[in-house]
Order: sequence, then structure tokens, then C-alpha cells
Amino acid sequence: MGTEQNIQWFPGHMAKAKRKIKEILPLIDAVAEITDARVPLSSRNPELAEIIGSKPHIVLLNKCDMADPAVTADWIRYYSQNGITAVAVDCKSGRGLSLFKDTVKTVLKEKLEYYKAKGMPGKRLRVMVVGIPNVGKSSFINRIAGNSRAKVENRPGVTRGNQWFTIDKELELLDTPGVLWPKFEDKTVGEHLAFTGAVKDRVIDVELLAMRLLEILASEYPDLLAKRYGTLDLSADSYDILSQIGKKRGMVIRGGETDTERAANMLLEEYRSCKIGAITLERADKNA
Ligand code: G4P
Repeated sequence: MGTEQNIQWFPGHMAKAKRKIKEILPLIDAVAEITDARVPLSSRNPELAEIIGSKPHIVLLNKCDMADPAVTADWIRYYSQNGITAVAVDCKSGRGLSLFKDTVKTVLKEKLEYYKAKGMPGKRLRVMVVGIPNVGKSSFINRIAGNSRAKVENRPGVTRGNQWFTIDKELELLDTPGVLWPKFEDKTVGEHLAFTGAVKDRVIDVELLAMRLLEILASEYPDLLAKRYGTLDLSADSYDILSQIGKKRGMVIRGGETDTERAANMLLEEYRSCKIGAITLERADKNA
């Protein structure tokens, strides 16, 4: 289960998380930022780049099994053009995890060579894993590290309750101390995280949310909508489209009206469980 429902976002918590990351930075060689490939922008922390400064930065586009592969490829290209290496991963199946390990070693090649040249064969690259709640950080660590939790050693960063994982003879990962947060002040970010279920529906009106999702789907994925729900008049407004979908599914209430609330819940559930298809809601060429 994602932990998002239990997290309370206080400025104090954010400041503490930021401080902890800054403290740990001198001990690590790179930062691996896990994002949700379905919402590659909204699932990022707005302050991370500033927090980590010049540390090498690798972005993981996780849940790539649920995202549109062509759009994921666009995002990887976009990041590369901006000097960041991005890798698509799927922590449910483990796809992309070896590529991630190889990528870290390529990005930090000089450091690895330096360790070898200096006769420090046991010294591993250290990478801190960060991500806002629900992007799959625990799944990633479980998948890649299994139960290889490092023994508590007497060295900085290990003795202070941080979780280090030994991945292989060249690589160690550190689970982030503290919790990162999304860009709350941006309404679109809140909506997009609600589409994926990372933010609870009850904070946003479910019909409104479904209508906003339909606006994106009607414009970017009309074929997938038609495949799932049959022929729809997508030139209508999003409330009407929701109503058409409800009608097609026989969601009628007394008086013959369509139960749009039920239709909204169904649409969101079918989007989240990928029944409509592998969909990405944010594009590098439009949204970044
Ligand atoms: P977090 O630590 O970042 O908060 O995220 P966590 O690993 O708890 O993952 C959040 C949800 O996302 C989990 O689903 C998890 O199974 C799912 N998930 C993580 N990575 C992937 C992926 O690459 N592909 C897919 N399809 N799903 C992924 P859940 O419904 O909360 O729990 P459960 O289904 O595992 O029981």
C-alpha cells in the first residue's frame, strides 16, 4: 500500500526532509529520483534540483508498464537533452532494473575507475533514492535490493538510522531519510496525482475529477476511449461525455437520468487499473 493517506504535509516536515537530504549529500555519489511515468511532471518534487545541486541525477520513470511507451521514450529524450539520464522501469516485473544499475555505473564511470586505480576494490558507488509518496519507492527498493539491507557499520550515514542496501560489488543504495512532497501549490499537479490515486479522491469532487480526466483522454487518447466505451461524441463537453459513458454502462437512476457520480467512479477506477489502456497524462513537448 502507498503511504500517501497517512502523510501530513506540514512545512516543518518538509524543512526537516530537506535538511536531512542536504546532510546526507556529501556521503553519496548520485541521486536516483523515482517518478511515476504516467504523470512524469506532477510526480516530481519541485525543490529537488535545488536541494541536490551539482550531484549527478538519474530519473526513473517507474510504472512504465502503465504508461504510454512512446511518450515515455519522449520523456527519456527530453531529459537527455537537459543533461539528465532517465530510465524507464517497472518495479512490478523488475523490467529496467538492470539497465538502471548499468546506467548508474556509466554515469559514475570516472568515480568507479578512480576507486579501482586507488586500490579500493571494496568501495561502492552510493546512490540516494528519493521520490514523492506513491511513485513506487518501496517497491523499487524491495525489487532491486531484496533483503540485502546493509549491516549497521560504524560510518557516517549508516549509524543514524538511514537504510543502506548493498546491490552488488559496485553499488549501494540509500533510502531517503524523510518524505518528499509534490508541487502542492499547482492545482493541475493535485488533479493529476488524484487521477493516479496518489491523492485521495475525497479531497476533490469525483465528477469534476472524472471530467478533467476525460478532457485529457478525449484530446490525447480518443481511440482508447472508443475502444473501451464504444462510439462517443467527443465534441460534447466533458460532463456530457461522462454522461454518455454512464448511459452506455446502464448507469441510470430513477427518472431516467444518468448516474454521473457512479460513472465518474467507474472511469477513474478503469483508468487507474489500466483497463482503458497504457496512458501518459503529461507530455514533454506540451507540459514540461
Ligand atoms: P511508495 O513507497 O513510493 O509510496 O510506493 P509503493 O512502493 O508503496 O507503491 C505504490 C503502489 O504502486 C503500490 O500499489 C505498488 O504495487 C504500485 N507499483 C509500484 N511500482 C509499480 C510498477 O512499476 N508498476 C505497477 N503497475 N505498479 C507499481 P498498491 O495498490 O498501493 O499496493 P499493491 O497493489 O502492491 O498491493
